[in-house]
Amino acid sequence: MIKLSPSILACDFSSFGTEIKKVEYAGAEYLHIDVMDGHFVPNISFGLPIVETARKCSDMVLDVHLMISNPEEYIDRFAAAGADIITFHYEACNNQAQLIDKIHALGKKAGISIKPNTPAFVLESFLPKLDLVLIMTVEPGFGGQKLIPETVDKIGEVAQMCRKLGCSPEIEADGGITPENVGALVKKGATVIVAGSAVFRAENPKEAIEKFKSIT
Ligand code: DX5
Ligand code: ZN
Repeated sequence: MIKLSPSILACDFSSFGTEIKKVEYAGAEYLHIDVMDGHFVPNISFGLPIVETARKCSDMVLDVHLMISNPEEYIDRFAAAGADIITFHYEACNNQAQLIDKIHALGKKAGISIKPNTPAFVLESFLPKLDLVLIMTVEPGFGGQKLIPETVDKIGEVAQMCRKLGCSPEIEADGGITPENVGALVKKGATVIVAGSAVFRAENPKEAIEKFKSIT
């Protein structure tokens, strides 16, 4: 069964603690925290205080997606803030292997994400070291976008590379995912599904989470 990682980018921040509890009680395994710096992506979201607050409010796995330039400069602080999984972008640095080691040395799980135009093969040499691969199914920067169909095959490509290498990082898909299109992603090999709008903007987030889980 897949794991669900609701993205708090779409939550109601006026009742942050309650929003998190809602998805935790509804059965979500991870909480997806989208950190944007206005430089790597053309939008600014939130940073360390939100990770610290989420850590205080919940026992869920904090799945931190860093959409920031120079991620190496911030890893220690996100680890200290309470992140469990720290995912940085392949495109944001050129010392990826070192960064994975650094995250592991801090006792955290390490992930790499690729944008829609970055081919899956760039990940190959890192796969045996990674705990998670995050395939962006929209351009990073904003919630509420439509999934780009051309990105879906990359999930299958990563799954195939993992089989060949004999490793099994989680394969996470992120962006524009709904109960209607999630089936295709899971069929390709996605094991963690990020959903922002489809969970937090749903009339009944609990039902939305159950729907995601029943389809997959
Ligand atoms: C986009 C973020 C996504 C986003 C998903 O840059 O990485 O995690 O919040 O939101 P929805 O599900 O609304 O596309
Ligand atoms: Zn994300």
